[in-house]
Amino acid sequence: MPATWTIDSWRSKPILQVPEYPDNTLLADVEAKLATFPPLVFAGEARALKRQLAEVAAGNAFLLQGGDCAESFAEHRADNIRDFFRVFLQMAVVMTYAGGSPVVKVGRIAGQFAKPRSSPMEKKDGKELPSYRGDIINGPEFTEAARIPDPQRQIEAYRQSAATLNLIRAFATGGYADLERVHQWNMGFIKDSPQGHRYQQLADRIAETLGFMRACGITSENTPQLKTTNFYTSHEALLLGFEQALTRLDSTSGDHYATSGHMIWIGDRTRQPDHAHVEYCRGIKNPLGLKCGPSLEPDGLLKLIDLLNPKDEPGRLTLICRFGNDKIEKHLPMLIRAVKKAGRSVVWSCDPMHGNTITAASGFKTRPFDRILDEVDSFFAIHRAEGTHAGGIHVEMTGQNVTECTGGAGAITDANLSDRYHTHCDPRLNADQALELAFLMAERLKLERQATQQERALKASA
Ligand code: PEP
Ligand code: CO
Repeated sequence: MPATWTIDSWRSKPILQVPEYPDNTLLADVEAKLATFPPLVFAGEARALKRQLAEVAAGNAFLLQGGDCAESFAEHRADNIRDFFRVFLQMAVVMTYAGGSPVVKVGRIAGQFAKPRSSPMEKKDGKELPSYRGDIINGPEFTEAARIPDPQRQIEAYRQSAATLNLIRAFATGGYADLERVHQWNMGFIKDSPQGHRYQQLADRIAETLGFMRACGITSENTPQLKTTNFYTSHEALLLGFEQALTRLDSTSGDHYATSGHMIWIGDRTRQPDHAHVEYCRGIKNPLGLKCGPSLEPDGLLKLIDLLNPKDEPGRLTLICRFGNDKIEKHLPMLIRAVKKAGRSVVWSCDPMHGNTITAASGFKTRPFDRILDEVDSFFAIHRAEGTHAGGIHVEMTGQNVTECTGGAGAITDANLSDRYHTHCDPRLNADQALELAFLMAERLKLERQATQQERALKASA
């Protein structure tokens, strides 16, 4: 039985991936100030997301989670937020309509600022400096001054998260997400791309369906589900001082909630069961994600499930699997079997990004789109074989026309990477690649649904 949890019990545990602030008094002042700021999200919203994720765990819905690897202060602009949201809606509508599955939409946005790093130091042109750890901690510029962790950045990250969330809430409920606008989401460069054409055809079919429904009296005026959408935020809970400052006791339930985002996750590098990140997360009631990489053994996973979801609440825990297309076959089946045998409820999600990162000959960090699609494909096939639900996808993506991952219908090559390589951290799918992935998943979801229906029919007639 773990010891009593308190909002700061993580502070007495070993911790990895933390910045060393030069001035701890200043850090404490900033944390004290953040603790007085309004929450970014409400506990009731986190509970609503948990209920939707429980539907995913039960096999009745699909989780779409995506956004920047790292949000940046420099790129905090309305058009960036809009373009991301637009492609995200396109992906969701492709999977809902072509895949026939309700989609739970969770952005890596409005708080995704802190980054774990493989190495604490970065070398460039013979010079060595502390690694960039995300805009909430230090700056990306390769100078000594920029790399010094600055607590004031936490205030800026909070303000940016609030402004981003404000715009997204307006988009989600203020008319932009109205299904009647399904054609208008296909704008900008995407409209003329191969996937844009494919989307156009799907939008035509949706518009036809909406026309039929309108004739039957169902319109976005009288049916709010058509006019607005649910959208939730998420980020890696890495910077625990910041998370603690935004943790609040919910008066309705008497429970503690992280109010920095609806869902938070534990990274692959910080999931040690006796360390600080697991300690903090086990005590808050938000839906949690847990990154599962190749070093996670079945016993280790079951231990973490016991700690993070002791009461086996459906929707509480999402396992975000990130093995790599060449490792998923070896690792995923044994984890699925262990969880099934233990009878635990989880959402199985696939992160096909973080196990497929390579350095191209040009020196750019990239991810071959073929490998991403291949890992997703294996993820669906393995779940099919194990009789479990392939519940979700977790991607790093942007609405911009970047050249960060090679391949895709636009055939980005190693030589093209330098054209529009804008990420502050890991390479992201561009809008066209994100849509292509959505179409692939829609096909797989449809197959899964048909197979389930056949099984049900067989059982009924037996
Ligand atoms: C991330 O999601 O950006 C990340 C660092 O992932 P992981 O913890 O799986 O490496
Ligand atoms: Co990343």
